[in-house]
Amino acid sequence: GHTVDKAARGLRFSPVAPNTADAVTVPGGYGQNVVIRWGEPILRGAPAFDPEHQTAKAQAGQFGYNNDFLALLPLPGERGRQLLVANHEYTDEVLMFRGYDPANPTREQVEVAWAAHGLSAVVVEEDRRTGRLTAVTRHALNRRVTATTEFRLTGPAAGSDLLKTSADPTGRKVLGTLNNCSGGTTPWGTTLHGEENFNQYFANASRDTDKRYGLGTGATERKWERFDKRFDVAQEPNESHRFGYVVEFDPYDPSSTPRKHTALGRFKHEAATVRLTDDGRPVVYTGDDERFDYFYKFVGSKRMRHGSSRSVREHNLSLLDEGTLYVARLTGDSPAAEIDGSGKLPADGEFDGSGEWIPLVTATARGAVSHVDGMTVEEVLVFTRLAGDKVGATKMDRPEDIQPSPHTGKVYVVLTNNTNRGKAGSAGADEANPRNANKHGHILELTERRGRAEATTFGWSLFLVAGDPADPATYFAGFPKDKVSPISCPDNVAFDPHGNLWISTDGNQLGSHDGLLGVATKGERRGELKQFLTVPTGAETCGPIIQDRRVLVAVQHPGEIDGASVEKPASNWPDGPGKIVRPAVVSVWRADGCDIGV
Ligand code: FEO
Ligand code: CA
Ligand code: CA
Ligand code: CA
Repeated sequence: GHTVDKAARGLRFSPVAPNTADAVTVPGGYGQNVVIRWGEPILRGAPAFDPEHQTAKAQAGQFGYNNDFLALLPLPGERGRQLLVANHEYTDEVLMFRGYDPANPTREQVEVAWAAHGLSAVVVEEDRRTGRLTAVTRHALNRRVTATTEFRLTGPAAGSDLLKTSADPTGRKVLGTLNNCSGGTTPWGTTLHGEENFNQYFANASRDTDKRYGLGTGATERKWERFDKRFDVAQEPNESHRFGYVVEFDPYDPSSTPRKHTALGRFKHEAATVRLTDDGRPVVYTGDDERFDYFYKFVGSKRMRHGSSRSVREHNLSLLDEGTLYVARLTGDSPAAEIDGSGKLPADGEFDGSGEWIPLVTATARGAVSHVDGMTVEEVLVFTRLAGDKVGATKMDRPEDIQPSPHTGKVYVVLTNNTNRGKAGSAGADEANPRNANKHGHILELTERRGRAEATTFGWSLFLVAGDPADPATYFAGFPKDKVSPISCPDNVAFDPHGNLWISTDGNQLGSHDGLLGVATKGERRGELKQFLTVPTGAETCGPIIQDRRVLVAVQHPGEIDGASVEKPASNWPDGPGKIVRPAVVSVWRADGCDIGV
C-alpha cells in the first residue's frame, strides 16, 4: 500500500479511500470550507439567497448554478485576496425550484435559469489564521455574466451571413453565453471559457449541420423557446450558430464586453488552455467533448505584449483573432492486429505513435484562407466538426480538458470515456483509443516536435488507461498497479507547483463517488496516482486549482440523481438536512499551514 512520505513531492498525503459519503472527504490533517454557494449575493444590492422566493433580478446579482471551471487571478495591492472566476455550466431546474413542473416552466423560472448560467467573478479573501477562504461581497470587481449579457463575436467569421439574426443584422453582437464547461487562464490576465453542450438549448432544428451538432428536432427539455424565439431554430435559424465558441473574459475590467472567438472554431468546447511559443505567440489547445470527435490547436501569429496599460490589454485581447486553427490526426506505431479492443498492451509495450496537426483556417490581418476543400473560411469556423470530418481527423473517446505541463512542455489530453467505441456502426478501437466500450477513459501524453508549441507534428503515448487497477486493461504509466488509487472518467486537469497532474472525475463507473486525484508525471514515481478528495452524492468534481497551500474544487450538480427533486433530495450538501442542495466551491488546506502534499 501507500506510504505517505515516499510519494512524489506534492503527493505526500494519505489517500482518500473510494466511498459514497454525502460529503467532501479530504485526507487526515487537511481542513476545508465552502467558499461560495449557488445564490450567495456577490453584487451590490443583491439580496440574500431565498430558495422559496427566487427571482431573475436576485439571481443576476448572486453566484450562479453548477460551478465548473475555476480560475484564481492575482490582485496586487489587496493583501490576502485573489479574484475567483467561475463558470456556471447549466441549470438543474428540478433541484432548484420547489414544485417544478417540467412540462410547464414559468417565465420567472426560465429567467432565473438564464441568470444562473454564465460566469461569476468574485474576490476571495484568505484568513491566514484559520486557512478559510471566503467571498468578499460587493467588491468593485465582482461581476455576473449571464445568458443575456452582451458579447462581441470576433475573428474571421464575425459578421458572416451565417451569424446574422433578426435581432442582430450585423452578425457581431450576441446575447449571452451558455454551457460554459471548463476553460483556461491566459498569460495576459484574461480567462477563457468553453461553450460546450449548447445544442440542448435550441428547439426544432432540422438541418444536417444541426444534426452533426446534436440539436434536436422537437421541443427542448427547458422549453426556453416558449419565452424567447431565438431558441427556436425554426424561427431564428442562425442563433444557434452564435454558441459553441471559446469565450474570452477580462475580469479586471468590469465594464468590458466579453468576446466569442470564431478563429478557434465552433464545437462543444470543453476547455481552452494557453501556452506561449518561444517568441511569445499564444497556442491554445481545445477539445470537442463528444463521442468520436476531435481535438484542436490554435497557433496565434501575434506576440503577446507585457504591461497593463489599456493599449497593451487591447492588443492582447486581439491575440486569438489571427493565426491558424489545426485539428489532430494520430497514427499508432503497432500493427493494427495487436490492438484488439481489450486494452491489452501491444508487443512494443505501449499505446503510442505519431501525429500531425492538420490546418483548417489561417487568419491574418489582411483576411483569412480556408485549407479545407469545398468549405469557405466561414463554413469551417461555424461548422468546424464538418471540416474535421473532411480532413480525416482522428475520432477520439470524448476529448475533455487538455493541459500543457509548465514543467516539461508535454501536453495531457483527457479522454473521459466512450461506451460506443466498437459498437456496430461505430469506429472500433485504435491505438490512441484502444478499448472498446470504454467506460473509464484514458489520458494521452503528447510531445510536440522538438518541444515547440507551434509544431505541426507530434509524438504521443497513453499515460494512463483508467479503471480499477486490478483490471488488466488499465495502465498507470508503468507504475506498480497495487500502489495506485482507482480512477474512472477523468475530466478536468491542472498542474500543481511540483509538476504533478491533478485530475478531477465526472461519472465514476466504479461504484464510488467522483473526486480529485494527483499523479506524478516525471521521475521514478511517474504514474503514482493518489486520491485527494471525494465529493457528495450525485456531484462531479470540477475546476481544480492546486496552489502551494490550497486546493480549490467546484462541486458541480450535487444531488443530481434520477428522480431527485427539491421535495425528494438525494443530497443534503453542503448545509445539511432540510436545506436545499447547492453547488458550491470548496477550498482545502493543510491544518498545520504547510504546503499541500510535501
Ligand atoms: Fe461539461 Fe465535457 O464536461
Ligand atoms: Ca505502440
Ligand atoms: Ca467537463
Ligand atoms: Ca464531463
